[in-house]
Amino acid sequence: APVAAPDLSLCEKSTVTSKSAGTIKVACCPPKSTNIIDFKPPKFSKIRYRPAAHIVDSEYLDKFKEAMEKMKALPEDDPRNFMQQANVHCAYCNGGYDNGDQNQELQIHFSWLFYPFHRWYLYFYERILGKMIDDPNFAMPFWNWDSPRGMVIPEMYVDPNSPLYDEKRNENHQPPKMLDLDYAGTEEELSKRDLIKSNLSVMYRQMVSNKTASLFHGQPYRTGDKPSPGMGAIENNPHTAVHRWVGDKKQPYSEDMGNFYSAGRDPLFYAHHSNVDRMWNIWKSLPGKKPGKKRTDFADTDWLDSSFLFYDENANLNRVKVRDALDTRNLGYDYQRVDIPWLKNKP
Ligand code: C2O
Repeated sequence: APVAAPDLSLCEKSTVTSKSAGTIKVACCPPKSTNIIDFKPPKFSKIRYRPAAHIVDSEYLDKFKEAMEKMKALPEDDPRNFMQQANVHCAYCNGGYDNGDQNQELQIHFSWLFYPFHRWYLYFYERILGKMIDDPNFAMPFWNWDSPRGMVIPEMYVDPNSPLYDEKRNENHQPPKMLDLDYAGTEEELSKRDLIKSNLSVMYRQMVSNKTASLFHGQPYRTGDKPSPGMGAIENNPHTAVHRWVGDKKQPYSEDMGNFYSAGRDPLFYAHHSNVDRMWNIWKSLPGKKPGKKRTDFADTDWLDSSFLFYDENANLNRVKVRDALDTRNLGYDYQRVDIPWLKNKP
């Protein structure tokens, strides 16, 4: 059976562990609500295009910063508040909920839920940002790390006076330091040119070579299952590599980006995941295993009917299903077209 939306009234403190700092319990349960709306695809008059973060103009940036500021200024117990939104990730990823069985915690990573969960998470985040500035057409940026000019932390996130800034990041990885999409905790001494080459071949390998749904998305994960049956190509790399590269190794739990519980406290998280989400769209547009055939997502109803709960821009609790997240255009958004250099980059 599909993974069912969690019961918020049963949410428990989350568990955070590291070898050096031990285990702590963190409170990240959302405000409770018994009034659950079944999500209906939205009405909209035009598609919102998420822009690449390194090329937005100042007018866009001002709006984005205003929206983030307002989100941070919401009352602490408002489910749309910045910290509450970060805690959504914590509760779903650090054992706040059960997966249909008291002995099995829900973990939306390391399985076929990775892509749809994060798509929904960002969808509501973006709606909330739009609400903050009364602009239902507002689209959040994506960190275009798969293209050479995007392979540094986008400038807008590194101004200490900006609501997009986060001080818990690796101080050695500030611009112009180039991102390593293969990062596993140790610095590679590669020239800029070789690093770009290496990054583009990571992209090619992960995106072009993994043609089936399970290679791309990860392994089946159903109600009552043990967590973490196995992750898909992109989740592993570059997704996790980027988290580790941004997080501050000097913090006890590699905060913020380096740990599930705190990753959403860094505004950069959402730009990172926006690009991860964009990869799902691109992946589906590439040629499939059989000549002339497209790539397809799972048809398994246990995947399609898996559901999650998220608060929307009006602080109403929505129950969403994976099946409604397969096409971003049905959700009213798509991505700015930019060059995809790794497509031609067969290593
Ligand atoms: Cu839910 Cu990038 O982690």
